[in-house]
Amino acid sequence: MWKIEKPLENRDGLLFMGGISCTELAEKYGTPLYATDETRIRENYGRMVSAFSKHYKKFRLYYAIKANNNLAILNILRQEGSGADCSCPAELFLAKKAGFKTDDLLYTGNYNSDGEFKYACEMSVKINLDDWTYIDRLVKFASPPNIPPVICFRFNPGVGKSDFGLVFSGPDAKFGITADKIVEAYRKAKEHGFKRFGIHMMTGSCVRDPAYFEQVAGMLFDIAGRISEGLGISFDFVNIGGGFGVPYKLGENDLDIEETGKRVATKFKEKIEEKNMGEPYLFIEPGRFIVCDSTILLTRVHAIKKTAEKKFVGVDAGMNTLLRPALYNAYHQMFVANKLSEIRTETVNVVGPICENTDQLAKDRELPIIEEGDVIAILNAGAYGFSMSSQYNTRPRAAEVLVNNGKSEVIRERESFGDLISKVRVPERLLK
Ligand code: LLP
Repeated sequence: MWKIEKPLENRDGLLFMGGISCTELAEKYGTPLYATDETRIRENYGRMVSAFSKHYKKFRLYYAIKANNNLAILNILRQEGSGADCSCPAELFLAKKAGFKTDDLLYTGNYNSDGEFKYACEMSVKINLDDWTYIDRLVKFASPPNIPPVICFRFNPGVGKSDFGLVFSGPDAKFGITADKIVEAYRKAKEHGFKRFGIHMMTGSCVRDPAYFEQVAGMLFDIAGRISEGLGISFDFVNIGGGFGVPYKLGENDLDIEETGKRVATKFKEKIEEKNMGEPYLFIEPGRFIVCDSTILLTRVHAIKKTAEKKFVGVDAGMNTLLRPALYNAYHQMFVANKLSEIRTETVNVVGPICENTDQLAKDRELPIIEEGDVIAILNAGAYGFSMSSQYNTRPRAAEVLVNNGKSEVIRERESFGDLISKVRVPERLLK
């Protein structure tokens, strides 16, 4: 059976979110429209923090801005007490705009330019380096031991896991420092005069297995223990990264976050006691888990085509609006917002208006009989949805609204045609 779960509700066959009818949202703001439920973000943050911090007090969550960088959402997370994980200078800029304190920011780039290092040093944020050689470039802009206040390195434990092939660790990954080089990295940082250290890892995205987090975090804790012992340094924090998965398909299990928090925190406590590592902070930096199920993408059916083999349902969201199906063959559940009580009797391809055949949001999907004007809600659109959208095929980007207790507010205006050319310049001579 198709389950309507938080933050969604079925009210007499109509889809509601945060106390508002989704068809009304589509009517009021137009489509395609990203609609986010504020309460759900706060709940997700709360259950994650509680799962870990009840087993280890010195715990902090740094929200990974790349998943969804809307300033309103960043403000919600700042209010909740989150830190921010920033992957580039613009994300540091956004986090400051959203009111995060410098101390609550972590900068994790990869293959950084000198300009990026300079920006992060000028901001005096904690910096996480993706290779041991980078420290020699970083020190041109740093003033050890205070800027950056903490130096961290990213560990590649040699294994990774993901639901979508999004593996960021192992021999084929471009990220991190392998076990044979990581001690050297900290030795070098020490020689440069740094005194406060962190260690980081991010092995894959969308994992729904607590045992995996325990296993891979254990590898990070082991290496941290070895470094600490070998070089006589203590860690301010140990960061196990993000990667906490959510179910996209019907029947997929939720990640048991309680179990994950318990297993990881318990392993952490054992290791720091065994190796006399003091009391470092335990960090996580989730993106998807916090925002994914808070948001739906509403899109209207405009054109329907039947061929001998298929029925194509043409909607106004395409791969420009939600790239994940085209890029990763990702599955996103769909509900027809005005036909929740109707039985799914048709098998259709839901396609966008972009001139590519990869522009198919769902293939061979069972849905109720669809007519022009229907509104389809695409679920789990909050993580890597808007943030990976583009203006491809000269399409202005979608609007975003925030829904909270029966009220809705625009948090990003729909782009106009003017926005498409606001940075374009035509040399005078071509205007004649
Ligand atoms: N930290 C670092 C260093 C990362 O690279 C990422 C994600 C995260 C944290 C957050 O990971 P999460 O908790 O969201 O799994 N575009 C893909 C996801 C790519 C994730 C990239 N890095 C998607 O649409 O599924």
